[in-house]
Amino acid sequence: MFAVLRPLLATCLNLLLLLPVHGQLPAFSNGFYYQDISNGDAFFDRVHLHVESPQPAVSATRGSTVTLPCHFHYDPEPKTPRRTRVKWSWTPADSGGSAGETEVMVAMGHRHRSYGGFRGRVRLRRSEPGDTSLVISELRLNDTGRYRCEVIDGLEDQSVTVELELQGVVFPYSSPRGRYHFNFSAARQVCQDQGAALATFEQLFSAWQDGLDWCNAGWLADGTVQYPITEPREGCGGVALAPGVRSYGRPHRLLNRFDAFCFSASIKGNVYYLDDSSGLNRTEAAEACSLHGGRVATVGQLHAAWRLTGLDRCDAGWLADGSVRYPISRPRPRCGPPRPGVRSFGFPPASRRFGVYCYR
Ligand SMILES: *[C@@H]1O[C@H](CO)[C@@H](O)[C@H](O)[C@H]1NC(C)=O
Ligand SMILES: *[C@@H]1O[C@H](CO)[C@@H](O)[C@H](O)[C@H]1NC(C)=O
Ligand SMILES: *[C@@H]1O[C@H](CO)[C@@H](O)[C@H](O)[C@H]1NC(C)=O
Repeated sequence: MFAVLRPLLATCLNLLLLLPVHGQLPAFSNGFYYQDISNGDAFFDRVHLHVESPQPAVSATRGSTVTLPCHFHYDPEPKTPRRTRVKWSWTPADSGGSAGETEVMVAMGHRHRSYGGFRGRVRLRRSEPGDTSLVISELRLNDTGRYRCEVIDGLEDQSVTVELELQGVVFPYSSPRGRYHFNFSAARQVCQDQGAALATFEQLFSAWQDGLDWCNAGWLADGTVQYPITEPREGCGGVALAPGVRSYGRPHRLLNRFDAFCFSASIKGNVYYLDDSSGLNRTEAAEACSLHGGRVATVGQLHAAWRLTGLDRCDAGWLADGSVRYPISRPRPRCGPPRPGVRSFGFPPASRRFGVYCYR
C-alpha cells in the first residue's frame, strides 16, 4: 500500500515546489529569471552585498548625457566572480502620482535590455568591477524622477535610489481667456505646447526659494494645485500665513480648472529679438522669424533664455502662443517691477504692433 501512495505523494510535492516558482514568472518575463543567477551555494551565510551611491541627487541639463552613480561590493570580497543581475527602474516625476515604478534597464553579464522611452539611450558605465552606474544620453524634460539601482545575487537583493533633476526654470501659464481654464490634462498639454513640461513640486519649491511669487494657483506634475508666495498679502492667502508654497491639495483632475506651472530647461539654439521701425503685427512677426530661418519663440524658450543665458531686453515681442512678453535680468526704471522676470502683456489682438522673439 505504501508503494502505491509514493508516486502520488511525489507528484503532490512536485506541484508544491513548482507553484511558487511558476508564480514568479510573470514578474520577470523579460528573460532574466532569479533562478538563472542562484549561484547555488551557502555564500551569503558569511558575506554581505552592499549597494551604494555617492550622490543621492544628480542635476543635469536637457539634451546632455548624465551618469547616475551606483556601485556594489561584497564584504568580504568573494574568491570567485559572482553572477549578479542589475536592474534600474524609475518613478517618473511627472507620473501625476499614478504610475508606480517602471523598468529602465536590466543587465546580466553581457546581456542587457532597455525599455520604453529609454530604449537605445541607456547603458551601464562599468568603468570598474562593481560599477553599475546608469548612463542616460539625450536627456529629456520628462526623464526627471527617482531612479532605483537594484543588484540581485541569488537570494540577496539590495538597492539604492538616485534622484535626477534638470536645471531649468518654472513659469506660470494661463489661458488667453483668462485665469483658471485648465483641467489637469489641458495643463499638461499647454506646457508641452510651450516646449516645457508640468513642473514638479521640487521644481516649484526651488523656484520659490529663488523668489518666484505668483498669486494664481496652478497644476503640478503630481496632480496637486499650488502657488508660491514670497510676500504674503491680502488676496493671496492673507498676511497671517508665512511665505511658502501654498497648496489646494489634489483637486479633481477633470472637473477643476486652474492655471499651470510649467518647467522649461536649457535649449539648443538662440532666442533673439527682431523689430521693424513701425512694429509687426502677429502675421508679420511670424514672417520676420522665418525669413531669418527661425520661428517665433515659445514661452518656454523665452523663460529658459532669460533664466539660463541672462537674456535682457526692454522691448515687448510676440511669442508663438500669441502672447506678448519681454525678459528682464537687470531691473531698471520703465522696464516693469524692480525684480528680474519675464513680463507679460497678455494676449493682445493680432493686429497690434510689437517686436518679436524668434528662436533659431
Ligand atoms: C517624453 O518626452 C518625449 C519627447 O521629449 C516624448 O516623445 C515622450 O512621449 C514623453 N514621454 C512621456 C511619458 O510623456
Ligand atoms: C479637459 O480639458 C480639455 C481641454 O480644454 C477638454 O477637451 C476636456 O473635455 C476637459 N475634460 C473635462 C472632463 O472637462
Ligand atoms: C498684418 O499686416 C498685413 C499687412 O502688412 C496684413 O495683410 C495682415 O492682414 C495683418 N495681419 C493681422 C493679423 O492684422
